Amino acid sequence: MVGPSSLANVHIACIMDGNGRWAKRRGLPRTAGHTAGEENLAEVVRVCAQRGIGRLTVFGFSTENWVRPPAEVRHILSLHKKLFGRVDELNANNVRIQWIGRPFDEPGSRTPAYVQRAIQRAITDTAGNTGMVLTVAFDYGSRAELVRASRLSAQLGEVTETSIDSHLYDPEMPRVDVVVRTSGESRISNFLLWQIAGAKVYFTERTWPDFDAQEIDAALKLIHAT
Ligand code: FPP
Repeated sequence: MVGPSSLANVHIACIMDGNGRWAKRRGLPRTAGHTAGEENLAEVVRVCAQRGIGRLTVFGFSTENWVRPPAEVRHILSLHKKLFGRVDELNANNVRIQWIGRPFDEPGSRTPAYVQRAIQRAITDTAGNTGMVLTVAFDYGSRAELVRASRLSAQLGEVTETSIDSHLYDPEMPRVDVVVRTSGESRISNFLLWQIAGAKVYFTERTWPDFDAQEIDAALKLIHAT
């Protein structure tokens, strides 16, 4: 058998694609697709936590997503506030929330103060949980993360795998075991390029709002496939 033998050691990373297509098929605005996507993420978090999975990392908003229409960006931002506000549910499922992304004090950071506060509050309010770690990548881009880690390493005089590891946005994040991308797109985009070395990749035709427990199990099976 290949890969972690216990789900507590498993790290799943999700590229939650297809909210727009999900909405279009129903004759709904794209924003309704994102709303459904956030609700489904809450359900996926619950399922993964109850399965005993150790780590779930999701691509909530990329550094490239700011160019979307302002109303759509505002809506996605408000959904992050909603997600980070789900502290009661997260605590009930013993889930600790984390965030990775461009630091708020870095030039170019565009994260509004209300989202920053929601992120910081959720991290504090779930810090005592000992179960699954949910990491939300918000204003995240892997190349920017790696440029920063390389620069910080070089400033200390050496660039090695260990020095890059220790300057990632979350140096504690373990390697990813399986990357999931929904909605029939077989691409990785700019997501966790360092951390996914060696990971299995699970592509599914399902759009993100339809990604469910059976799909999670199918992705998990890949880890243990020889
Ligand atoms: C892709 O759908 C998804 C995103 C832009 C980011 C993920 C956002 C969500 C799941 C909504 C809320 C999530 C959080 C974490 C609060 P798309 O618009 O690219 O879909 P399309 O490719 O069908 O147009």
